[in-house]
Amino acid sequence: MKRLLMVGASPRGERSRSGMVADHLLARLEARHPMLEVERLDLFDAALPAFDQNAVEGRYHLLAGNAVDPAQAAVWHDLKKWTDHFLSFDALLIATPMWNFGIPYRLKHYIDILTQPGLTFRNDSQGNVEGLAQGRRAIIVAASAMPFGSLPEIDGLDFQLAYLKAWLGFIGVTDIGAVRVAGTFGPDEAVAAAMAQAFADADRLADTI
Ligand SMILES: Cc1cc2nc3c(=O)[nH]c(=O)nc-3n(C[C@H](O)[C@H](O)[C@H](O)COP(=O)(O)O)c2cc1C
Repeated sequence: MKRLLMVGASPRGERSRSGMVADHLLARLEARHPMLEVERLDLFDAALPAFDQNAVEGRYHLLAGNAVDPAQAAVWHDLKKWTDHFLSFDALLIATPMWNFGIPYRLKHYIDILTQPGLTFRNDSQGNVEGLAQGRRAIIVAASAMPFGSLPEIDGLDFQLAYLKAWLGFIGVTDIGAVRVAGTFGPDEAVAAAMAQAFADADRLADTI
């Protein structure tokens, strides 16, 4: 592991609970890997390009095995800068809150930009798909008010961590570690216990990397 991209998906800055645990995990990782190069991408500050008609039309051309039209070339060139940047890292740390059972729209926007045929996955006309980000490692720090991970009855409502794992698998990333920061709403003692658990889980995960 040489280069790690830390993607922050909470707009809460220093008050972000997913951010606090991700920073803690990262500090431990940096102590274990002093040569690790880290870049931060705060998705609520990033100027993400629109993923609109030209981008979508270009995507359908590529999926069909054709080149993008000249009208779509500039948009596609811009998207490729984002996928090239993403693929230049061999490790990814995503820190995200749960929003409405899923992920914040800025993280979904980033994923929609990155997930492109010929760039982060390859398909054939039979519908076979191969992820092109193989060999990379991912760590997810997933915060939620609800105590996911310790209450099996609500597992079916998790479109945050389950979704991120599915997406990473689609682009070929199978080495995935996750830390839940779960139960961040409630009495102070309960939230403090959830944070303590998350910091300890982050330490444990960092020590395996
Ligand atoms: C717009 C919005 C929607 C939310 N939706 C959910 C939700 O569906 N389930 C949940 O458990 N928590 C939900 N929460 C709570 C956050 O996931 C929780 O406060 C988390 O700790 C925030 O992480 P952060 O501090 O890193 O932003 C929501 C919070 C916001 C702001």
